Amino acid sequence: MIDALATKPAITRRADYTPPDWLVPDLALDFDLAPERTRVRAALSVARNGAHDRPLRLDGDGLTPLAVRVDGAEARWRMDGAALVIDLPGETHVVETEVQIVPERNTQLMGLYHSGGNLCTQCEAEGFRRITFFPDRPDVLTRYRVKMTADKARYPVLLANGDPVASGDGEGGRHWAEWHDPFPKPCYLFALVAGDLAANRATFTTASGRTVQLGIWVREKDLPKTDHALHALKLSMAWDERVYGREYDLDVFNIVAVDDFNFGAMENKGLNIFNSRYILADPDTATDYDYDAVAAVVAHEYFHNWSGNRVTCRDWFQLSLKEGFTVYRDQQFSADQGSAAVKRIEDVRGLRAAQFPEDGGPLAHPVRPDEYLEISNFYTATIYNKGAEVIRMMATILGPQKFRAATDLYFDRFDGTAATCEDFVACMEEAGGVDLTQFRLWYSQAGTPRVTATLDHQAGDGRAHLTLRQSVPPTPGQPDKAPMVLPLKLKLFGAETDTSLIEERLVLLEEAETRIAFEGVTERPVLSINRGFSAPVIVDTNRSAADLAFLSAQDDDPFARYEAMQQLMLDTLVAAVTQGRADHAPVIEAVANTLSDPALDPAFVAEAVLLPSDSFIGDQLALVDPETIFQKREALRRELGRALEDQWRSLYESVRANRFEYSPAGKGARRIKSVALGYINASGASDGPDLAFAQFESADNMTDRQGALTTLANSPSDAANGQRVAALDIFYHRYSDNGLVLDKWFQTQALSTRADTLDAVQDLARHPDFTLANPNRARALIGAFAVNQRAFHAPDGRGYRFVADQLIALDKLNPQTAAKLVPPLGRWRRFEADRAAKMRAELERILAQPGLSKDMTEQVSKSLD
Ligand code: ARG
Ligand code: ZN
Repeated sequence: MIDALATKPAITRRADYTPPDWLVPDLALDFDLAPERTRVRAALSVARNGAHDRPLRLDGDGLTPLAVRVDGAEARWRMDGAALVIDLPGETHVVETEVQIVPERNTQLMGLYHSGGNLCTQCEAEGFRRITFFPDRPDVLTRYRVKMTADKARYPVLLANGDPVASGDGEGGRHWAEWHDPFPKPCYLFALVAGDLAANRATFTTASGRTVQLGIWVREKDLPKTDHALHALKLSMAWDERVYGREYDLDVFNIVAVDDFNFGAMENKGLNIFNSRYILADPDTATDYDYDAVAAVVAHEYFHNWSGNRVTCRDWFQLSLKEGFTVYRDQQFSADQGSAAVKRIEDVRGLRAAQFPEDGGPLAHPVRPDEYLEISNFYTATIYNKGAEVIRMMATILGPQKFRAATDLYFDRFDGTAATCEDFVACMEEAGGVDLTQFRLWYSQAGTPRVTATLDHQAGDGRAHLTLRQSVPPTPGQPDKAPMVLPLKLKLFGAETDTSLIEERLVLLEEAETRIAFEGVTERPVLSINRGFSAPVIVDTNRSAADLAFLSAQDDDPFARYEAMQQLMLDTLVAAVTQGRADHAPVIEAVANTLSDPALDPAFVAEAVLLPSDSFIGDQLALVDPETIFQKREALRRELGRALEDQWRSLYESVRANRFEYSPAGKGARRIKSVALGYINASGASDGPDLAFAQFESADNMTDRQGALTTLANSPSDAANGQRVAALDIFYHRYSDNGLVLDKWFQTQALSTRADTLDAVQDLARHPDFTLANPNRARALIGAFAVNQRAFHAPDGRGYRFVADQLIALDKLNPQTAAKLVPPLGRWRRFEADRAAKMRAELERILAQPGLSKDMTEQVSKSLD
């Protein structure tokens, strides 16, 4: 439970940063662990930082001191709110505290909590203060010694950061273990786990020849599902040595999977703790998407050992220093494992689905924010994914050699310290020999820049002119924006001869407007711009449907080729929505050409022929009309299905009999199979549902099974009712003991495009397997439903009321997870007056709840502003 807020919560500002008054070079922790009562003794060696006479102030959250000693003697102390304050006379002291906490009542899943019979911790950002009194800020770096005592039968495994140093048996069936972490670290990287766990073990030999013991810890029955994660870990360790020259530094590296977790995973030093959905994978229960996500998250957390742990953040405003850079690193890693082109398309699709709407809405904030009420609300797509794009742009501007020199400089210079985004950029400038003064606006200005590109050609004199204009939209608190540095890769093709007229070049657009002249343009040029998505911006061009179709068939940059097709589809759908009708022929022809191009990778084809999502279409429009968007998109899907039915069927047949193999080729085949099945069903072909049901039943892997289930779950036709109901039922019973797969069952139904989805979701919220206490389950049903544009925005407002009811209930258990689900309601400005009023009314109702958390208060009130 959370306490009612007595006073208005305080805003934390970046400009107010001051160094810590006291440092804590060493800490000894002693845990007497039990779910119903855990006693925590802490001995902090503290050192005054600079000349001042301020007291020692230790953060706490819900803690009551049972004892406080200074240098071995009872000491005077006072509470200031939740913090413990002690006046200290000297320069160094040993401060001991003792508190008691109740892990089994911790529903927020921050601090020490209970999950699936095990005890585990989550401290980032400010969870350590729920375990013990401490200066809970990332610029206080401490060496930890941790002793844990627990019941041996119930918790045979005791893990913490660093290396194990001693263990033994105690009285009354208890045992203990002690771990030391030699690397000074901020308290947000502290972790412990006590549980009945088994390990999938391996060793890794580092570049300098040290042997590291690797262990992935799960319930015994889940061990067979850990090979993929273990393999990904080894690949990540080798990759970071090869690509960034970064070697692992401890003798052990452990990962523990837990079922109840607020986000993806956590990079605690030497003891990563993961949401089990990012560890467990086998062909029967995990899709290709899940396999990829497991590898990406394992890599991400591992890479944090350098970008995050060895070099950490000075304060939480610098969060993107570690997250943006580490996302960039994990994206590069994944690109190296398979198709870099498809990976780039997926990353951009993710950015557009999550970050662009955030940047264009009430919660927009810079990559380096200036203030927050609750830091948990800033673990956003902007910090992570836009932050990664900012790093990528610097890598593009510097080129690979200088970028590597710059990261070497950064790691060397700041190893063992708490750094800032500014420190990182300064290294880029120094090693890259570039001036990034104006580029720094990417850290301080929110909002997605918009570029207008107009190409004019004078046929007679062989000249062409490209006019580029940029603007950055106003965002909350930032009405006026300065022009930014936009690295745009571009190229000109000749429409008649299908050749390259002007080779690819990198243009740095730095002014509000610039004009570039090209010579020797002897035929009508077609512009390929923002190739590889070199800048995270929105580009408007004056390209015709014919130009876009040309690029979708000819561009040699796979991303630009995909993008041309998407733009053609988007232009067509926006015209259909706003003008009531549109010519489908260019899209059908372009898709037909893509399908029949033998040179293309099937995984790429599958991405290219998918229509933009309902939400992305909505994002192009001043006012979103969910039902019309849905109907127009379905109409185009149906026509694509019908017009190209033979191609979809032969494509489907060509991959139908494949056996499961997790490889780029295997993944590509399954991807195209699901897409083809979707189009065959969209065409209305009478055998569509049977084909889907047959795929559902005969699948030897979850990708095919869930793909078929999704097709059936979306089927509007009464004729498919039998197959749809049967497949959902079979799926449920087959996987009723597997929480991660049940999440898919809830999510598939919550995302259904059927007209009765809202009713179905309301029933599912009363299903015995539904619970708000498990974040994965809450997100699978409520989170998924809230991004189902058609169902959530049902005109009567019932979707809004349902989600608001759930958020109010969830906030009482887990404010952090509840607050993450606010943004769909906060998009009210983009909807017509009646819907907007209903959405606002629900936000007002949430805000009026007594005892609303700080997390929700911040998100909801910003959404109403
Ligand atoms: N550092 C973790 C990661 O990205 C995530 C921590 C999220 N913390 C939070 N309070 N939301 O790898
Ligand atoms: Zn991270």
